[in-house]
Amino acid sequence: MDAQAKKTALRGITYGLYVIGTKVGDDVNAFTGNWVTQTSFEPPLVAIGVKKDTTSYEGIRESGVFSVNVLESGQKDLAFSFFKPVSRVGNKFGDVEFYTSTTGSPILKDALYWFECKVTDTVDRGDHALVVGEVVDAGVHREGDPLTLKETGLFYGG
Ligand SMILES: Cc1cc2nc3c(=O)[nH]c(=O)nc-3n(C[C@H](O)[C@H](O)[C@H](O)COP(=O)(O)O)c2cc1C
Repeated sequence: MDAQAKKTALRGITYGLYVIGTKVGDDVNAFTGNWVTQTSFEPPLVAIGVKKDTTSYEGIRESGVFSVNVLESGQKDLAFSFFKPVSRVGNKFGDVEFYTSTTGSPILKDALYWFECKVTDTVDRGDHALVVGEVVDAGVHREGDPLTLKETGLFYGG
């Protein structure tokens, strides 16, 4: 396989950029992620790709729940607040306000929309795990255009 072609082709997949939250023990954590897609209408299922050596993956595995916060176009800085590992930078929420609903996963007050999931399946292959969750709750804070990965100028994939 042509490695450069593989990279270019995989980077041709278009993405949004989300803050994915979970519970970690009695606390919460979140990371910025773009590997998010819906995979079923009934039941409503969503799949995310989660790096296996992260606190977030540990939290998702142990709690069996996660939230997806859909950010608004222009909220690049909010997305960037959750890139770094909590193990290195400590609590990433700072003054980012959040609340919880059905699963206890963090819901950002400034996000456009949110949904939260209970994990139904995990495929533990490669450096990221494929985690499938059933959507058990969702909400709309306001209408708007979702943030895209392209808008941030970053890539995660290839
Ligand atoms: C643009 C971008 C997109 C990312 N997308 C994902 C993703 O989809 N899945 C993932 O596991 N990590 C993704 N990451 C990396 C996580 O944000 C990063 O590993 C984070 O530090 C994990 O946080 P934690 O250790 O506190 O759980 C992405 C990073 C960047 C810069």
